[in-house]
Amino acid sequence: MAVLGHVDHGKTSLLDKIRGSAVSEGEAGAITQHIGATAVPLDTVSQMAGSLVKPEDFDLPGLLFIDTPGHHSFSTLRSRGGALADIAILVVDVNDSFQPQTEEAIDILKRTGTPFIVAANKIDTTPGWNPQEGAPIQKTYEEQSQRARSKLDEKLYEIIGELSDRGFSSDFYWRVQNFQSNIGVVPVSALTGEGIPDLLGVLMGLSQRYMKDEMAIDVAGPGSGTVLEVKEERGFGATLDVVLYDGTIRAGDTIVVGGANDPIVTEVRALLQPRPNAEIRTEKRFDKVDEVRAAAGVKIAAPDLEDAMAGAPVRVVGDRDLDEVVREVEAELADIEVTTEEEGVVVKADTLGSLEAMANALQEAEVPILRAEVGDVAPRDVAVASTARESEHKVILGFNVDVLSNAEAELEKNDVKLFEDDVIYQLVEEYEEHVEEMKR
Ligand code: GTP
Ligand code: MG
Repeated sequence: MAVLGHVDHGKTSLLDKIRGSAVSEGEAGAITQHIGATAVPLDTVSQMAGSLVKPEDFDLPGLLFIDTPGHHSFSTLRSRGGALADIAILVVDVNDSFQPQTEEAIDILKRTGTPFIVAANKIDTTPGWNPQEGAPIQKTYEEQSQRARSKLDEKLYEIIGELSDRGFSSDFYWRVQNFQSNIGVVPVSALTGEGIPDLLGVLMGLSQRYMKDEMAIDVAGPGSGTVLEVKEERGFGATLDVVLYDGTIRAGDTIVVGGANDPIVTEVRALLQPRPNAEIRTEKRFDKVDEVRAAAGVKIAAPDLEDAMAGAPVRVVGDRDLDEVVREVEAELADIEVTTEEEGVVVKADTLGSLEAMANALQEAEVPILRAEVGDVAPRDVAVASTARESEHKVILGFNVDVLSNAEAELEKNDVKLFEDDVIYQLVEEYEEHVEEMKR
C-alpha cells in the first residue's frame, strides 16, 4: 500500500504515528527522497484501531506501507510507488486541499487503476479544535463545538468537490457503502492520532476485500521486487533492501538484479527481515528467514551485488528460462533510462529513481545532460565533465552521493565544478544560480 500526496501534507508523519517512530524528523530538510517500506503487523493495527479492527476478522498478516516522496520532481518514483501498491492512501492537507502533486498522484492512481482512500490530514489545525489523542473520528466529533465541526466539514466538502471535478465520486468514509465505486474520505491528524483508528479500519477492510476479490498478488509464484537501497552489511558484503511486491523469494533462489553494467545473476545466500514496525531504511537488526512472501520488505544477501542499482528490478528465476528473465530485467531498465545529449552536465545520483527525478528537474530547467549515472563521483566523471564545450556545463551535479577521494584532486586540476545536495530542487537551484553568476 502506497502513501501518496503533496509535499508536506503529512505522509511520513502519518506513518510515524502508525509505527510509533520519528523517521520524518531525521530526514534532510524533512523531505522524503526515497521510497521506504514498513510492515505493520495485524496486532499493532488492531491495538491502534481498537474496536474498529478485530484481529479475528482478518486473515491478512498486516499492512505493508510504502512511503513516497512528495516533491514535484518525483513523479516517476511515485508512479513506481503507485504501481507497486494494491491500495493507496492519498494524503491531503485539509488547509491546502488539492495541490500540484495531489493532482499528479490522482493521475497515477487513475492510470494504474489503483483503489485508494483519502486521508484528510491535519484536522487538529481546525480553529477551535479540541484534540482527543488517538480517538476514532466519531468520538472526537462529539467533543467538538458546532463551529469547529462545520469549519472542518467545509474543508472536507472542498476535497470531495475537487475529487468530483476529476471524475471520482467520494464521501465521508462512514457513508460509503462500496469503496470500489466511491472514494472514502477519512479525516485524520498525524499529530494527535485522531481518526487513525478509522483509517486503519478502512485500510484493513479494503485490503482484505481487494486481495480476496482480485487475487492481486500471486504469492506462490517467483518473486518480483524493486531495490530500495544497496548497503554494505558487516559479514555479508553488499546487500539489497528490497520491496517484494509479488511472489515468493527463498534462500538459495537464483535471482536477476538490474546492475550498473549488465544484469547481475546470483544466488540468494540469506534473507534478512526487519523486525515488525521497523522502517527498513533505518533498521539495524534483522531476523534470518528461509522464505519471504509478498508484499514485504526484505534484505537480500548474495554474492556480486556491488554493482546493483537502487530502483532496479529484482526477479526470482524459478523454473523459467534464465535468458528470458535477464531480458525482462533489461527491458525494464531500458524503460527508466535518462536521455542524454552531446553537450551538457554530468549527473550522479544514489538511485535510479532519484536519477530520473534529477533528469526531470533538469529538463524542466532546460539544462542538458551529457551523462547520468547511479553511483559516487569518480575520477572518470570529472574527465567526462571536462569535455563539455560550454564552461557552464563543466559541472557535476551529485545527489545524495559521496565523492571518491581520488576524484577531489581531479576536480581542481580539470576546472570542473561540483554541486552536491540531498534535496533535488535545491541542487538544481544552486546550479542555476551559478550559471546566473557566470553570466554577470
Ligand atoms: P514529504 O515527504 O516532503 O512529501 O512530506 P510529508 O508529506 O511526508 O510530510 P511530513 O510528514 O514530513 O509533514 C510535514 C509537516 O507537517 C511537518 O512539519 C509535520 O509536523 C506537519 N504535520 C504532519 N501531519 C500533521 C498533522 O496532522 N497536524 C499538524 N498540526 N501538523 C502536521
Ligand atoms: Mg515524507
